[in-house]
Amino acid sequence: MQKVIVLDFGSQYTQLIARKIREVGVYSEIRPFNTSLARIKAEKPAAIVLSGGPQSVYEKNAPLPSPEIFELGVPILGICYGLQLMGYLLGGKVVPSKHREYGFANLKVLKRTGLLAGIKDRGQVWMSHGDKLERVPPGFVITGCTSNTKVAATENRARRFYGVQFHPEVIHTHDGKKILANFLFKLAGLKSDWSMTSFIKRKTEDIRARVGDKKVICGLSGGVDSLVTALIVHKAVGKNLTCVFVDNGLLRKEEFKRLMERFKNKLSLNVVGVDASERFLRALKGITSPERKRKIIGREFIGIFDEAARKIGRVDFLAQGTIYPDVIESNPVKGPSSTIKSHHNVGGLPKGLRFKLIEPLRELFKDEVRRLALELGADREFVLQHPFPGPGLAVRTLGEVTRESLNILREADDIVIQEVKRAGIYTKLWQAFGVLLPVRSVGVMGDQRTYQQVIVVRLVQSTDGMTANWYPATPALLAKISTRIVNEVDGVNRVVYDITTKPPGTIEWE
Ligand code: XMP
Repeated sequence: MQKVIVLDFGSQYTQLIARKIREVGVYSEIRPFNTSLARIKAEKPAAIVLSGGPQSVYEKNAPLPSPEIFELGVPILGICYGLQLMGYLLGGKVVPSKHREYGFANLKVLKRTGLLAGIKDRGQVWMSHGDKLERVPPGFVITGCTSNTKVAATENRARRFYGVQFHPEVIHTHDGKKILANFLFKLAGLKSDWSMTSFIKRKTEDIRARVGDKKVICGLSGGVDSLVTALIVHKAVGKNLTCVFVDNGLLRKEEFKRLMERFKNKLSLNVVGVDASERFLRALKGITSPERKRKIIGREFIGIFDEAARKIGRVDFLAQGTIYPDVIESNPVKGPSSTIKSHHNVGGLPKGLRFKLIEPLRELFKDEVRRLALELGADREFVLQHPFPGPGLAVRTLGEVTRESLNILREADDIVIQEVKRAGIYTKLWQAFGVLLPVRSVGVMGDQRTYQQVIVVRLVQSTDGMTANWYPATPALLAKISTRIVNEVDGVNRVVYDITTKPPGTIEWE
């Protein structure tokens, strides 16, 4: 299977490039901009894409790739900053624009044989840049322009180098996918050979080669990501995989029992169940900072795996269901965003970890993982379940996590989910859950004054968890949820509905 490497220079759209390339049927992975030439060569990419980025190529500390990538004979597409890099490193001239160009523009097609073949003239493209390529390097011709940008598209057909100033990977560039497809298929000569089946096959082979006859341990969280990871690793190494499912006391109502049953009986995985709820509660005692909670939970998980692994004998590998959004939100080197939340399975790993990591889903988005899960035989109800954060109810019990607060939240959350399902909107939502606030408010029940806690109802829609909208729930649904929670859950006398989008909010409250 051929692979395209996307070198990441920090654009907020880098992950979209890799994803759009996969959507047209070519396997693609992101690498940091400073990946060594030797490493790039070893990966044998069939093409390279240079992403956008926020800096200027001529700045002192500008991120630059190894310049020898232009000597590899591999077709290269530069996007925005990537185009400017190509121009700058190959002898063109990059200058600051008078006005930063941000938003829609219309692309005038000057030459429609190469990258812009079959592209509508004056079609809409999306621009976001402060610099521009003033003069193209020797051997390049300008193939497209806009009213503000002389070099909106350029190419050197002989060397198979192409560049666009706009962003073909975003939806606002109408013919963007076609431009990427032109680069991949017409110009770089790739074939469409990526599919879920080929991904599973490739990952299975890679894991088998890496693991050999050593042993692997995999933590199941109850979510789709860790299950798909386990199923792929199981395909690769069979009985050398032991799964550990920890009852951390932070799961939803009845979840541990229900899932153990499913893993063992339906999916034939070899699963060890560990009841560690006391241990987690002890470790979280007195802790209120969200980041510390995540770190502690990550640490306890690893500790428990470690102990479970020792019981199995020598275990060298730990398989984890890290997916792309976890990686970028935790690791500013890999992507553009600063550390927003260190997801426990990425940021919380202790330094002295004695396992080698297997993370087959690191490059994928949630919807891609769901498609994989169905392909691997998981049932629809499980696959379509909402994402659930690794640190579980701990990041939905604001402030200190106690047995009492968890019990309150678990009951309230169960009502939210029941009513959302009853209203027939569960699959329309990305997530539906309750959050318990550590504040008390005054209420009146019967003739009694009450002074109890608040439950927030959070119903959001999203396609990948990176952005989200609150769901315009009907008053009838909200009324039902509110009445039931206040009547049925001891300790709660007030229910509020969260109407914050992401950004600026996040989906979880911590
Ligand atoms: P936020 O709250 O950052 O969440 O908008 C985006 C998505 O990620 C999930 N999430 C987590 N998942 N460990 C996880 O495995 C975490 O620490 C974590 N924090 C948030 C969240 O539920 C949403 O789907």
